[in-house]
Amino acid sequence: MFMSMFKSALFLVIIWCCCFYPSYGCLEEERTHLLQIKDSINYPHGSSLDEYWVGKNCCNWFWIECNSSSSRVISISLHWIRSDERLGLWYPNASLFAAFKELEELDLIGNHIGGWVAPQAFSEMQSLRNLYLWENNLSASSDSVRGLCDLKNLRGLYLDENNLDGITLSPCLSNLSMLENLSLSGNDLGSYSSTLTGLCELKNLRFLNLDINNLDGRAFPPCLSNLPKLETLLLLGNNLGSYSSALTGLCGLSTLKSLDLSVNHFDDSSLPMCIGNFSLLENLYLFENNLSGHFGNSISGLKRLQVLHLASNQLTDDGISPWISNLTSLIVLRLGRNKLKGSNTMRGLCGLSALTSLYLSDNYLSSLPICMGNFSSLEKLELSRNNLTNLFSNSIPGLKGLQELHLESNQLTDVGISPWISNLTSLAELYLGNNKLKGSDTMRVRGLAMATIVSISTGKSIDRDVWVWAGYMR
Ligand SMILES: *[C@@H]1O[C@H](CO)[C@@H](O)[C@H](O)[C@H]1NC(C)=O
Ligand SMILES: *[C@@H]1O[C@H](CO)[C@@H](O)[C@H](O)[C@H]1NC(C)=O
Ligand SMILES: *[C@@H]1O[C@H](CO)[C@@H](O)[C@H](O)[C@H]1NC(C)=O
Ligand SMILES: *[C@@H]1O[C@H](CO)[C@@H](O)[C@H](O)[C@H]1NC(C)=O
Ligand SMILES: *[C@@H]1O[C@H](CO)[C@@H](O)[C@H](O)[C@H]1NC(C)=O
Ligand SMILES: *[C@@H]1O[C@H](CO)[C@@H](O)[C@H](O)[C@H]1NC(C)=O
Ligand SMILES: *[C@@H]1O[C@H](CO)[C@@H](O)[C@H](O)[C@H]1NC(C)=O
Ligand SMILES: *[C@@H]1O[C@H](CO)[C@@H](O)[C@H](O)[C@H]1NC(C)=O
Ligand SMILES: *[C@@H]1O[C@H](CO)[C@@H](O)[C@H](O)[C@H]1NC(C)=O
Ligand SMILES: *[C@@H]1O[C@H](CO)[C@@H](O)[C@H](O)[C@H]1NC(C)=O
Ligand SMILES: *[C@@H]1O[C@H](CO)[C@@H](O)[C@H](O)[C@H]1NC(C)=O
Repeated sequence: MFMSMFKSALFLVIIWCCCFYPSYGCLEEERTHLLQIKDSINYPHGSSLDEYWVGKNCCNWFWIECNSSSSRVISISLHWIRSDERLGLWYPNASLFAAFKELEELDLIGNHIGGWVAPQAFSEMQSLRNLYLWENNLSASSDSVRGLCDLKNLRGLYLDENNLDGITLSPCLSNLSMLENLSLSGNDLGSYSSTLTGLCELKNLRFLNLDINNLDGRAFPPCLSNLPKLETLLLLGNNLGSYSSALTGLCGLSTLKSLDLSVNHFDDSSLPMCIGNFSLLENLYLFENNLSGHFGNSISGLKRLQVLHLASNQLTDDGISPWISNLTSLIVLRLGRNKLKGSNTMRGLCGLSALTSLYLSDNYLSSLPICMGNFSSLEKLELSRNNLTNLFSNSIPGLKGLQELHLESNQLTDVGISPWISNLTSLAELYLGNNKLKGSDTMRVRGLAMATIVSISTGKSIDRDVWVWAGYMR
């Protein structure tokens, strides 16, 4: 009974698929347009997509998405399709894309695009919301960006790594007034000082990526202060530490939630103090600068700060105290590759009771303040490549949530870890390679009984029932 019902249901499904499904396929005209794009992308002698774009229903083709009710193409994703350098630069006719009346997303990343034929056709693409053009060669023709300025309804424009400079980045971009996400990383926009002024008109901008652009303070226009909705500003890998007094454009951005000023040659005195006024800031990235920590009083009022990344600086114990204790919302704190020694001055860290990840590898720690055994929410603790002989002296830590503990390349001894390690009852991963452990009975019986994975320097995982300590620990 059940089987026969099942069979007739299956039969109906098959009938439906064979007879009706094709009518949900793509429109014949749009299929033709897609094949024209394929020919253009392969010009003069490529063969990309030949094995992927076959059959009548182009809505089922790779990298194509249709609206299920109108059957029209709404997304085309062709990244790294024309990647063969020998085909030369690609100058597609903009009409190829304008032919799709409901196209919302166009991804042409990494296709050696040098510019456009008939760019005025872009003015017909009023449904386009996101255009991805990373890793092309838009600097090859002077008006390749200007062609895009007619895409009046664009919300996201991604022009990273196109060798654009102040001349090829057309000022008409300021006409894209609906733009919310603009990404321009890996270009050369610092070379002409007025280049970025046009961005000041983009009042709806929420996300702006200017990483790696040879910007110094002078290239950063004061009017950027006027972007009333900016939430994320990425400026990694520039040279803002020089002429930082010109960074007044930064100071008005009171809506920022994420700010990346890493790798910018900042020291304690050149870092703009006004960062401390961004009361909504949740993520602050300052790695690879030249900070010793004394700038910290200026940011100690950031009540919402959850992620602070200060790795690869010159931080000292005194430098991070006592201001760091005021950042009580911190969840992730990265302090690796600094000059911390682990003196009692670092006790300021102990008040950070919300921390789940703490990174202290590559410092000069020879001990830790005992109170650091009190982080009850901590899940991940990295202490590799320090100078630790034990962690918490003889006190028993309350790291009840600790799941991952990295202790490679220290001076740990059996006696140094035995008193406390068996109390880390949530531990799932423990890294102990390159220490002074001998695997004596003290350690074998009491220590590590709870750990489910123990990775030694070889990267091997071993079952906790198969201890073979002495063999690989010296
Ligand atoms: C699909 O098309 C219908 C009718 O044209 C429209 O109402 C709907 O918003 C479209 N959906 C998407 C995801 O574009
Ligand atoms: C671009 O494509 C359109 C539509 O196919 C065509 O009418 C026009 O002549 C083309 N432009 C050039 C310069 O090839
Ligand atoms: C295109 O850009 C790539 C990457 O930016 C670069 O390596 C290549 O030399 C450029 N080609 C031309 C013809 O400009
Ligand atoms: C902007 O980018 C973010 C991710 O960075 C994304 O979540 C958001 O939807 C984008 N906004 C628009 C309008 O596309
Ligand atoms: C913005 O668009 C208007 C008309 O659409 C045009 O007159 C003006 O030149 C454009 N602005 C820029 C900076 O290109
Ligand atoms: C921070 O804001 C206060 C008032 O909100 C203002 O007086 C002060 O000048 C601002 N500091 C900086 C460095 O912008
Ligand atoms: C870092 O700052 C120190 C002084 O605090 C200075 O001597 C040194 O040159 C700076 N290094 C870099 C790379 O800026
Ligand atoms: C830290 O907070 C306390 C109490 O809220 C305050 O008195 C102190 O001035 C703050 N310290 C710093 C360095 O901001
Ligand atoms: C650790 O926390 C407990 C309870 O919260 C508290 O009594 C104790 O003083 C703390 N120890 C240190 C060293 O801060
Ligand atoms: C490591 O600690 C020992 C004492 O435990 C000390 O003699 C040595 O100088 C420290 N090394 C470094 C690099 O801090
Ligand atoms: C640590 O473990 C020992 C035995 O394994 C237990 O007696 C002791 O109460 C534990 N200490 C804490 C603070 O959990």
